[in-house]
This record gives sequence, C-alpha cells and structure tokens, in this order.
Amino acid sequence: MDHQGNPLTPAEVLQRRRQVVRAVLGVRSALGPQRSCAEAAAPANVALVKYWGKRDEVLNLPVTDSLSVSLGRLGTWMKIAVAERDRLILDGREHSPDTQEYRRMFEFFDLFRGEAGPFLEIVTRNTVPTAAGVASSASAFAAAVRCLDVLMGWGLSEQELSTLARLGSGSACRSLWYGFVHWHRGKRADGLDSHGEWIPVVWPSLRVLLWVVEGGPKGRSSRDAMRHCVTNSPLYSAWAPLVARDLPVALRAIQEQNLRELGPLAEGNALAMHAIMIAARPSVRYWTPATLVALEQVERWREEGLDVWCTMDAGPNLKLLAEESTARELVRRQPDLQLVDPFEQVSVVDSSQPGFQ
Ligand code: DP6
Repeated sequence: MDHQGNPLTPAEVLQRRRQVVRAVLGVRSALGPQRSCAEAAAPANVALVKYWGKRDEVLNLPVTDSLSVSLGRLGTWMKIAVAERDRLILDGREHSPDTQEYRRMFEFFDLFRGEAGPFLEIVTRNTVPTAAGVASSASAFAAAVRCLDVLMGWGLSEQELSTLARLGSGSACRSLWYGFVHWHRGKRADGLDSHGEWIPVVWPSLRVLLWVVEGGPKGRSSRDAMRHCVTNSPLYSAWAPLVARDLPVALRAIQEQNLRELGPLAEGNALAMHAIMIAARPSVRYWTPATLVALEQVERWREEGLDVWCTMDAGPNLKLLAEESTARELVRRQPDLQLVDPFEQVSVVDSSQPGFQ
C-alpha cells in the first residue's frame, strides 16, 4: 500500500525492495560476481514467540518482535553458480519458470542483480523432510543470502544478511544462526533496524521433536493466513500486548535454561496464535482431529510427569520441546517422533575453493 492506502504496482514493490537492498549494500551494489560459484547451509527455525502479522507487507516488517530456536541439521544446503541461463534444481528436480518455487526464488535474486544479469544456476537441497510441516523457505532464503555474500564478495555482517533474508521471507531473518534468535521488529519505515540477533546461550540438553500427525502439502500459506488475521480476526488486537508480555519471560527462561518456564510459555503463545486464526472471519483452521489427539497426548504425558510442551505453526503438526532424557523416553513411547538437536551445526565444504576435490 502507498501512503493513501492504494495497492502498489509490481514495479513499485520491486523498487521499494531494491531501495532497501541498495541501502544495505551501499557502494557494493555496483559489484558483479567475484567468483564463479558459492555454497552455504542454513538451519530451519521454529518460533517460541511467534511472528504473526506485518506492519509492512512489501518489506516483511512484523508487528511484533519474535523469538526462535534453530532446527540444527534440518534446513537448506544451497549452491549458486554463474551460468548461461537461470535454472533452479530443487531436491534433485529441475523446476520450470512457471512454478511457484522458481518464481519466488528468482524474484528474490532479482533484487540483487540488474538487467545485465548474471544468470544463475541454483542447486538447493532441503534436509527438512518434505512432510515434516516445517517451513523450508526460511532456511532457503537464509542460505541464498549467504551464497550471494560469497559470490559477490560483499563481506556483509550477520545482521545485514539477516535484513536481506527478511525480504525473501520474514522468518528467514532468524535462520542465519544456530540456537536462539531474537528478531527485533524495528521502528524504521525502511526496516533497516528489523533483523535477527543471536542470543549467546547454548543449551546442550534441549531437544525439539517433530511430530507429523498429518502428511501431505499444507493448505493455506502462512503469509496469506497472517494477512487475513490482521484485518479479519477480532482477537488480533490482543496479539501485540501478549507478545510484549511473553517475550521478556521467554528471554529470561532461555538465559536460565529453564524449560518449565519456557515450555508453557511457548505452548501458550502458539495456542494464542491459533485462537486468533480460529476467531477470524472467515475462520482459519490448520488443526485436524489428529492435531487434537496429539495435543491431548502431550497433556497426558505431562500428567504422567514428563516435562514436555509443544508449539505449532501454520499447519496441523506439532513440535515438542523437552530435555534430552525426556525426549528419548518420548521417542520410545512414540517412535514416529523425529528428534532434533537445535545446536547441531552443518559444515559446508566450499567446493569453489582451489584444491577442492
Ligand atoms: C506461523 O515467515 O513464512 O511460522 O514473511 O510472509 O514469508 P512471510 O511469512 P513466514 O511466516 C511464519 C509464520 C509462523 C510463525 C513464525 O515462524 O514466527
């Protein structure tokens, strides 16, 4: 929307987004590729205090701060190379220009290149299992900015990379780091102060367990559902005050590595987000009967003395939070849980370095 509330044309949208890129890159905007290819990895993340609603749709600027933990080895590996024409090979399959994945990825790369190219071949692999109901777009855009940084020789800071990744997908600005990340909403209209900040806490015993109760592709995108809720949910006005209360408590619980504080808070925050969706007119409901069965199971485990809490995103599946010993007991009881160490890092061997075999 412009200042009068009129929708922007696609050209105006591109121009606003490119202005931000130029502001971040400065004189580096003029640089062409400094090498022929680059590769990078980035982890997926799950929010403990959610991002739900934008104050600016074009720049993915959020209404509130949010807080996430990474999913360790689950995420995206990407390699980009200067090529004769644009190509996207995703999980071993070439995507044609009319697919949504191709359009979204190259619209992002177009923010950084002019009419003269370069053309790029993008090979990308998601280590998030497709059915896991974990968004791979966050890790994909984070890996993309890391690749570009190396290819173009920008040498940007993590904070600057996070600002650029946000233009691809809001939650991507939290996927630049392993562990806990605080996304500051920022106040500026150009969003240069809206980026992730790594929280220097390593909590080696913390585990996330992915619980896929419903396979298959998800229905409505989180982008679309979020937009709908901001204007059409009578409960949306409660969201910003709730996050303002939840965030400091979550930050303290992380510092203290206190799951009995963090777990209920993350679960309550996710349920509040879903309450906003359910109350929207028309209603947005990602839950299925299997979701409710799983929620009841989590409650039963707690009644039996297991410290486990859950969070959920824009989908029917659950992500559980538990300490390692509890997590192992949960996997014994529910073998289809997928155990993730949030702090497990993936190292990328840069095959473009001389001498790489
Ligand atoms: C429910 O980051 O996918 O997962 O900025 O429109 O790309 P866009 O949205 P996206 O939304 C994520 C929403 C969420 C909550 C969260 O990750 O904080």
